[in-house]
Amino acid sequence: MSKISLSPGYSTFPMPAAVISVGTGDEANLITLAYVGKVCSKPPIIAISIQPIRHSYHIIEKLGEFVINYPTINQLREMDYCGTRSGRNVNKWKELNLTKEKASVVSVPLVKEFPWNMECKVVNRIELGTHVCYFGEVVAVHSDEEYVKNGSLDPDKFNFFAYISGIYIALNKGAIERHGFSLSKPLE
Ligand SMILES: Cc1cc2nc3c(=O)[nH]c(=O)nc-3n(C[C@H](O)[C@H](O)[C@H](O)COP(=O)(O)O)c2cc1C
Repeated sequence: MSKISLSPGYSTFPMPAAVISVGTGDEANLITLAYVGKVCSKPPIIAISIQPIRHSYHIIEKLGEFVINYPTINQLREMDYCGTRSGRNVNKWKELNLTKEKASVVSVPLVKEFPWNMECKVVNRIELGTHVCYFGEVVAVHSDEEYVKNGSLDPDKFNFFAYISGIYIALNKGAIERHGFSLSKPLE
């Protein structure tokens, strides 16, 4: 079958759609980002990219810390809201009834209602073009108890979602296989 050439602007897939908290006190804000990805395991580093026109950009520039918060499928509306309104005009915490929970290492608050939170400290930044990329070292991770089994995310409880070409896609179909399964199952 022949292949169609597409724009180099296409994204990898799936992408996350996570809600990032930035800033402290009354300045604390929430921004939805799809440009979020792990780029190093030791030290654990996650890269996020933000456009300088965002209100959150000025806040992260000042503080150099952020928290990645993962909402569940039931919190899709809150996630979309944080990606379609600016903290310049609305207080997203108040409008969405979200609670600021004290983080354990950074000064930026976690979103209490979102079950998975990763505290990060910026260790590097690169201006790439439309976006500025921040490399955040993960300094603490928190999960609601119900999502964890034997120290890992429980695939049977998993009810998060991904973002592909502007569409939110449910990821709760359950585990298909485990990392490395191809080593023990020979090709047929
Ligand atoms: C699913 C989704 C993903 C997004 N990903 C990014 C991103 O990776 N980088 C970015 O700068 N903006 C991204 N945005 C846009 C911002 O979230 C949006 O402009 C937001 O209103 C900015 O908020 P602020 O002005 O309070 O900082 C995304 C929006 C949505 C809905």
